[in-house]
Amino acid sequence: MSLDPNLSAEPALLVEHVVKRFGALTALRDVSLRLNQGEVLGLIGDNGAGKSTLIKTICGYHRPDAGRIVVGGREVVLRGVDHARSLGIDAVYQGLALINELSVYHNMFLNRELRVGPLLNNRAMRRLAREHLADMGVNIRDVGAEVAKLSGGQRQAVAVARAVYSDAKILLLDEPLAAMGAKEGALILDLIRDLKARGDVSVIIIAHNYAQVLDVCDRVNLLQHGTITFDEPTSEVSLERLTDLVVAEYRNRRLRR
Ligand SMILES: Nc1ncnc2c1ncn2[C@@H]1O[C@H](COP(=O)(O)OP(=O)(O)O)[C@@H](O)[C@H]1O
Ligand SMILES: [Mg+2]
Repeated sequence: MSLDPNLSAEPALLVEHVVKRFGALTALRDVSLRLNQGEVLGLIGDNGAGKSTLIKTICGYHRPDAGRIVVGGREVVLRGVDHARSLGIDAVYQGLALINELSVYHNMFLNRELRVGPLLNNRAMRRLAREHLADMGVNIRDVGAEVAKLSGGQRQAVAVARAVYSDAKILLLDEPLAAMGAKEGALILDLIRDLKARGDVSVIIIAHNYAQVLDVCDRVNLLQHGTITFDEPTSEVSLERLTDLVVAEYRNRRLRR
């Protein structure tokens, strides 16, 4: 490998001309997207635009029908979410992926269980889960409680904590602020700011609250009908402009009907 002086300018992730179909429906028509190192990218778009499908394609859950995914400069064909995770890509899905019957701490260490020899190190997982949640300011009295017993916001916080403490280098957060009260939402936003300050994690976050997107993201992409139609640094866009874009889409759709 050559010593490229621009190596640090290598994007964390490139998505190039990705297509994803579900039978006759084309969810992703032609998506190209760039996530820079240490960047927080906001992904916005109407319901059904393909946002979740894109996240699930990048985290190895869906196989694209065409296009390329490049991670840290190397093209990868993701064989599944475990493969993506091994490459440092971790996602918090919309609607979550917690196991209701397991405890909070077992969920936090799912597929990454700590062991002493062949045995689960429940003690250490319990302690770390408690510490991580406390660091995030999330108040869960008993990390041994089943996840089913938690509120929607608490479950979301556990899912985000799991991803954040997973050593992932690319974090994909699909509407992490949905189902959250104002206070819990603020905790998640703080956490994302902390990650940004660390600089070694790159984040794509899907959100519907554009003020929050402008607040926490470096750049914003708009996904419309399976393709990215807008890509600007947040420093260059106003809340009014983002709202206008989405309202214009809504109006066009009504006219087409
Ligand atoms: N597993 C699936 N099977 C069939 N159609 C799907 C599936 N997942 C998503 N879709 C469809 O793909 C389109 C994009 O969905 P989605 O990615 O969930 O949009 P968004 O997250 O932007 O609201 C929608 O028309 C949706 O119904
Ligand atoms: Mg979605």
